[in-house]
Amino acid sequence: MNGRIPVAVLGATGAVGQRFVQLLAGHPWFQVVAATGSERSAGKRYREAARWILPGSPPDDVASLEVLPTRPEVVEARVVFSALDAAVADEAELAFREAGKIVVSNAKSHRWDPDVPLVIPEINPEHLELVRLQLRRYGGAIVTNPNCTTIGLCLALEPLRRRFGLKRLLVTSLQALSGAGYPGVPSLDVLDNVLPEISGEEEKVENEPKKIFGQLRGETIELVDLPISAQCNRVASRDGHLLSVSVELSNEATLQAVREAFRQFKSPLAELGLPSAPIEPVVLTEEFARPQPLLDRDLAGGMAVTVGRLKPCAVLHFRFVALVHNTIRGAAGGTILIAELLRARGLI
Ligand SMILES: NC(=O)c1ccc[n+]([C@@H]2O[C@H](COP(=O)([O-])OP(=O)(O)OC[C@H]3O[C@@H](n4cnc5c(N)ncnc54)[C@H](OP(=O)(O)O)[C@@H]3O)[C@@H](O)[C@H]2O)c1
Repeated sequence: MNGRIPVAVLGATGAVGQRFVQLLAGHPWFQVVAATGSERSAGKRYREAARWILPGSPPDDVASLEVLPTRPEVVEARVVFSALDAAVADEAELAFREAGKIVVSNAKSHRWDPDVPLVIPEINPEHLELVRLQLRRYGGAIVTNPNCTTIGLCLALEPLRRRFGLKRLLVTSLQALSGAGYPGVPSLDVLDNVLPEISGEEEKVENEPKKIFGQLRGETIELVDLPISAQCNRVASRDGHLLSVSVELSNEATLQAVREAFRQFKSPLAELGLPSAPIEPVVLTEEFARPQPLLDRDLAGGMAVTVGRLKPCAVLHFRFVALVHNTIRGAAGGTILIAELLRARGLI
């Protein structure tokens, strides 16, 4: 085992599951020892069950694993990453927690459970204290990663929130196809088209920041009052969600001060030496017509959010465009970073 912590990936055959497998290959702290899927995949070798949609081939050690059914009694690893369909995650993640596992999840199922933290490591690492409470209550714990668009939005806002406070905001998203999983949106629906509806997405983007930016008080998170109006669209890019944001700050600021707030924002995790943590989680670009999904989504291995087109806004205070890689920072990469932080805090 080379001293690495054995981990399992639940829903390892899907779009996000494959990202986990890719990002965990050669990870210095974690080693994938089990991969699960539906009954359709269980019993097959991973290389046959997963229709690999990333460049290259799946890493050999995982490709040769037999895909297990998604049941805790057949998964030996204590730490499990969940890339399960939410309909399955509702019950499966509870079963894994009951079995004493630590579940770090991408699914929406338990994001609003009062004792489950919803974490972006650079923003609210202290919420992970709820894991100790869960360990006492259940023997295991669930930690959730926010929705992919919410992660990009919150990270882009964090330099401004810290320096000036946030009063309210508007966001319009242009979201990539991989966000709908595999096989996802039918080609005839999306080619030559834009779909102005993504089921449940606007509610997630409007509500999840209230918990992420909230205060841990005793055994629950006190939500912040932050009105957000979100409109979400599916476009035909492959990876990378683009967000147009207009924000009103709590305290007045000049454009120059806002620019400096972005430039001076460094990772609060820097001293922990977490393998997946970018030094600059938010990068301000002054380049013409950037960020663009095709050109900027892989910045810092897909873990940094790029902000550009920063200007005063004629309606609210400032506006900008932000870009997040939805299956890396917005999903598997963000979840792996949470697990690294759990380890750094002695929780796994
Ligand atoms: N895609 C993104 O950008 C993104 C971002 C953030 C969060 N998420 C969330 O991450 C999760 C996975 O998303 P995805 O895009 O990877 O979806 P996906 O491509 O549809 O993959 C779903 C996974 O769940 C498994 N599964 C389905 N039904 C199952 C069952 N009855 N029992 C056990 N496993 C079952 C599938 O296994 P089989 O292959 O065997 O069917 C597959 O591994 C979802 O909750 C999604 O909302 C996705």
